[in-house]
Amino acid sequence: MRIPLRALLRKKTDIKAGEKDLPQHIAIVMDGNGRWAKKRGLPRTAGHHAGMEALKRIVGAAGEIGIKVLTVYAFSTENWRRPQPEVEFLMRLPNEYLKTELAELNKNNIKLRFMGEMEGLPVHTRQAVTQALAETAGNTGMILNFALNYGSRAELVSAVRQIARQASDGLLRAEEIDDAAIEKYLYTAGLPDPDLFIRPSGESRLSNFLLWQVAYTELWFSDVYWPDFDKTHLLEAIDAYQNRDRRYGGIKL
Ligand code: FPP
Repeated sequence: MRIPLRALLRKKTDIKAGEKDLPQHIAIVMDGNGRWAKKRGLPRTAGHHAGMEALKRIVGAAGEIGIKVLTVYAFSTENWRRPQPEVEFLMRLPNEYLKTELAELNKNNIKLRFMGEMEGLPVHTRQAVTQALAETAGNTGMILNFALNYGSRAELVSAVRQIARQASDGLLRAEEIDDAAIEKYLYTAGLPDPDLFIRPSGESRLSNFLLWQVAYTELWFSDVYWPDFDKTHLLEAIDAYQNRDRRYGGIKL
């Protein structure tokens, strides 16, 4: 069953979407914080703060709609190239988000997951993340997966290294390396591939995000800056997704 978009927009608080055509896993590049701030004559950090508020809205909306996994790109392995004060601000955001949202996440049965190079994060960020993982570990609802110090190439390099070690230890033969063997070593192991990839802010690229996992993902782009992104935009993306014809390289008979 498709979600009738207009009906959803009318009854925002009472969504009873059919599950068949709902994307199970949505991945979002939360882009445009800096330009949002610049347009308003504000510092870039104000844009990131507004981006955090947008994230709160979208987590709530995705949970209500019945999305199973929401993956958000919060900090890439390339974002370290930004000026030090901005990096430091971004590294404090998980602490701030979790301090204000952890109770709400638990109330809504949301389970946190993090993917990325945890060792590269400052100690305070790592501590906040570790604590939040433990405190939501028993939840069984939507998975909120934070990509933090994440890069898809780094993820693939790490997977290849682990597979090579298995092979050199005689635990894996070359013929046994298939899609499933690779996926076992990705940060997303155990999660379904994203069905829908959303990138706001007018950019139309993947930016080293989930390169393996998006092989058959439907891509949706919007000009809206992330801090302005709300439930209406999420529903628009889902509506577009529901009108796509996913053939996975096959044909419809
Ligand atoms: C990209 O926009 C955004 C980021 C690198 C940071 C994303 C962070 C948030 C949305 C805040 C929520 C995060 C957490 C961890 C709670 P940009 O700064 O590159 O924007 P621009 O392209 O307009 O400069």
